[in-house]
Amino acid sequence: MTVTALIVAAGTGERVGGVVPKQYRMLGAKPVLAHAVDALAAHPAINSVRVVIGTGQEQLARAALGDRAVGDLLFGGATRAQSVENGLAAIAGNAVLVHDAARPFCPPAVVDRLLSALEFHDGAAPVLAAGDTLARAGATLGEAVDRHGLVRVQTPQAARLAALRQAFAAWSGPAPTDETSVLRAAGMTVAAVAGSTMLDKITTRDDFDRAEMWLAGQMVPRTGSGFDVHAFAGDGPLMLGGIAIPHDRGLAGHSDADVVLHALTDALLGAAGLGDIGTHFPPSDRQWKGVASALFLAHAAALVRAEGAIIDAVDCTIIAEEPKIGPHRAAMREKIAAIAGLDIAQVSVKATTTEGLGFTGRREGIAAQAIVNVRMGPAR
Ligand code: CTP
Ligand code: MG
Repeated sequence: MTVTALIVAAGTGERVGGVVPKQYRMLGAKPVLAHAVDALAAHPAINSVRVVIGTGQEQLARAALGDRAVGDLLFGGATRAQSVENGLAAIAGNAVLVHDAARPFCPPAVVDRLLSALEFHDGAAPVLAAGDTLARAGATLGEAVDRHGLVRVQTPQAARLAALRQAFAAWSGPAPTDETSVLRAAGMTVAAVAGSTMLDKITTRDDFDRAEMWLAGQMVPRTGSGFDVHAFAGDGPLMLGGIAIPHDRGLAGHSDADVVLHALTDALLGAAGLGDIGTHFPPSDRQWKGVASALFLAHAAALVRAEGAIIDAVDCTIIAEEPKIGPHRAAMREKIAAIAGLDIAQVSVKATTTEGLGFTGRREGIAAQAIVNVRMGPAR
């Protein structure tokens, strides 16, 4: 069986509100749509993932998807059902999992249950029993509805592709809200498999808060450390913490020898297990000669975030007899924050001397240490 996951992301997210439709908004370290794509792409039984977006959403969608393999973007219509139909017309395979981009988390076990059920049914959907008391809505509460035997129907919804296309072609009436309605109206059977609260849709702002909380619980804290030394050589100015400090001597090294940014870059890479500064910017490579170390730090921060990490705090200690760091501390914090995409409150810069002892005490060079705390998200 060849399985295509079709993720519909062509809505405008009116109920959540905000400037950007909900599926393109950040949730933890990546956009909601990227979570939905990653969850399905990771399942070994899913052969390809395709995404249906709204007209005018290309830029948002491309930014949200990054380098994820989703083929050409497909274009939806005015209703969810129209978006699904447009998608169905463009995909291949013999089975499809239609999924809402607004459901960022999909447990693999649900996909297993859906695909097993397809062996005996035209379609299958995850369901959860209605737990709360149900009643008709109204300014004063309407009639009670017996919740006994009622379920909430979620996505992804599985179907044999030919059956679902045929069912949509036969459908008449107002736009259906899901695929199971269309399949059943065409006389086909739909299996109900156990759903998951993780699959609950982001419909309102409260749902965003719930998803953020769930995600926060999945994040694992990690710490990285970095250390670097450069010898004094030549004339100033001295590059330290991204700032050019007026000084009679500079530091020797390939690049601009900014010992603080080097320690920080190593700490960031270390926190995410991504090797060290030498792995990414080998001194033997002439292209890094004399470049601003800000480039190293910015690149490391981007790599760490691409791993799904959130950078919480960076703390640097400069070990030097000269120059005096105090007058430049605020500017360094501001500069480091700007380079690494952090708030100034997340950046600390400290300085100490070694009381005249050792190479720093003899004013032969400057050492720097850095510690970085990150939270790693679930792997992509
Ligand atoms: N969807 C779609 N095409 C539409 C409408 C909705 O592809 N014309 C998608 C949404 O992007 C979402 C899923 O269908 O992933 C479920 O729809 P819903 O939660 O209603 O999202 P929106 O329609 O965007 O939100 P709202 O109804 O609050 O405007
Ligand atoms: Mg809608």
